[in-house]
Amino acid sequence: MAEGLAQVWTEKYRPNELNDVVGQEEIVSRLKAFVDNKSLQNLMFTGPAGTGKTTCAIAIARSLFGESWRGNMLELNASDERGIDVIRNKVKDFARTKPLGEVPYKVVYLDESDALTREAQQALRRTMEDYTRTCRFILSANYSSKIIDPIQSRCAIFRFRPILAEKISKRLQMVAEKEGVGLKEPGLDSILEIAQGDLRTAINLLQSASATAKTVDEEVVYAVASKAKPKDIAECVELALGGNFREAKDKLDSIMINQGLAGEDVIRQIHSTVLKMDIPDDKLVTILDTLGEYDFRIIEGSDERLQLNALLAQLYSLGKK
Ligand SMILES: Nc1ncnc2c1ncn2[C@@H]1O[C@H](COP(=O)(O)OP(=O)(O)OP(=O)(O)O)[C@@H](O)[C@H]1O
Ligand SMILES: [Mg+2]
Repeated sequence: MAEGLAQVWTEKYRPNELNDVVGQEEIVSRLKAFVDNKSLQNLMFTGPAGTGKTTCAIAIARSLFGESWRGNMLELNASDERGIDVIRNKVKDFARTKPLGEVPYKVVYLDESDALTREAQQALRRTMEDYTRTCRFILSANYSSKIIDPIQSRCAIFRFRPILAEKISKRLQMVAEKEGVGLKEPGLDSILEIAQGDLRTAINLLQSASATAKTVDEEVVYAVASKAKPKDIAECVELALGGNFREAKDKLDSIMINQGLAGEDVIRQIHSTVLKMDIPDDKLVTILDTLGEYDFRIIEGSDERLQLNALLAQLYSLGKK
């Protein structure tokens, strides 16, 4: 996402302190209590991408260790460390030396811990026990249900939520202002719509959109996100339901060609669009059922153009009823 040597905005605007974390108020206040007492226990952060899990972990390390936080925090990613043995060895090496400063332990941040198998999680649990005196573990996972109970019961659990649109909006306006980017309502709303509570995605979209155009509007945002504009999709669906099959098909062709979209993405977008349209229940139910069927066919490898045309044909027939 970085343009040449320019900095990646998600890193540039990652808050250094817990106080500056956007949203997640309850989590932040509980974490601050740990940090203020310098009494960190093992923690588990769960929740969707781009909501502040890594950010909070780094902020904790910064406030515990100050300048020397990098030497006192080990960041690992369970999905690219090739197995629990590698993780255990890295923790062992890291825990071998005493922490710098007055805090008597170091911090291990293990990202994507839900990528570990159950057996690997058992081994991780033992590692957590072996190093209770010298290390505190912060585990991050998208789904807590994939983490075994013996680990969950050894951690204080924090459930991160998608960040509210109004908060993302404020943050984006701040970034836009600092970066001298023109950001008006339609562009901003499009970013919020696509990001769905994920602040990393939102900031990344703003950065790539502003690299393409001086003013970030709806057009640019959907183009850099490789998504069709919801109103184009809605128009296409309305045409098919309204009995204008050829026009609907031409519209779909142009959407797909202009945006270089994959069939799967188009179906996803049709799905979220029809849910927002004013369609009577009996029709909507049939449409949703049909979308499920065609999504499955495309995923199974059937020709996507053929399937999408067949889908439009179904919508057309449905409109006639
Ligand atoms: N709550 C937040 N407050 C401020 N900035 C945030 C927040 N959440 C995300 N960001 C922005 O998005 C970037 C990525 O956030 P972070 O690394 O904390 O996500 P994450 O929750 O760890 O996601 P993943 O599950 O993908 O690891 C940050 O560098 C920051 O710019
Ligand atoms: Mg993370």
